Amino acid sequence: MKSHEILEKNVALLAFFMILAVSVGGLTQIVPLFFQDVVNEPVDGLKPYTALQLEGRDIYIREGCVGCHSQMVRPFRAETERYGHYSVAGESVYDHPFLWGSKRTGPDLARVGGRYSDDWHRAHLYNPRNVVPESKMPSYPWLVENHLDGKHTVAKMKALKTLGVPYTDEDMQGAVAAVKGKSEMDAVVAYLQVLGTAIKNKR
Ligand code: HEC
Repeated sequence: MKSHEILEKNVALLAFFMILAVSVGGLTQIVPLFFQDVVNEPVDGLKPYTALQLEGRDIYIREGCVGCHSQMVRPFRAETERYGHYSVAGESVYDHPFLWGSKRTGPDLARVGGRYSDDWHRAHLYNPRNVVPESKMPSYPWLVENHLDGKHTVAKMKALKTLGVPYTDEDMQGAVAAVKGKSEMDAVVAYLQVLGTAIKNKR
């Protein structure tokens, strides 16, 4: 019997070599990434989210925006012409968890920061039909009514700090004052306006 025939006719042997092949292939692709600066180091100018932006990000997660919006501009011409510079890993190093997503019922939001005014976002989130008549995005009117108390803001920043986000003591001292009394709308808009701004939007 040829050696390959032996392998193909022995399930245990075949499974063993399949796992070996997949493991070696996976490890050689995945492990080097842990040691590459281009993946681990923040891009120049990337700042940790401010307290208000951080709260906005959590509301974005709570409301399931990621279910319709990706935050990942792919390196293809059709994408970069529409959205701007493609996303790079160094932009996401302070995102825990990252919100790259893959479902695009709505447009990608990786570079939406600065594209519209704050007022546009407020009108749009309150009821998207106000500014985009054909929109099928849901309305989020409660964002205007709900206000932040900052109860968990410092704890969130501390947790992120243990994951390597460079928050300073001053950042944390000012955190409650920065969010208390602000509406959830203020927070989401602050978050949207910073998205993708570390790399200049070359459109
Ligand atoms: C059911 C799917 C859906 C959900 C959930 C959703 N959106 Fe949208 N979104 C859309 C669609 C479709 C559009 C395009 C039409 C429009 O501009 O309203 C859009 C557009 C947008 C735009 C404008 C993007 C651009 O480049 O023009 C922003 C900003 C946005 N959404 C933010 C949000 C935020 C923040 C949330 C969560 C609070 C959210 N969306 C939830 C579907 C969704």
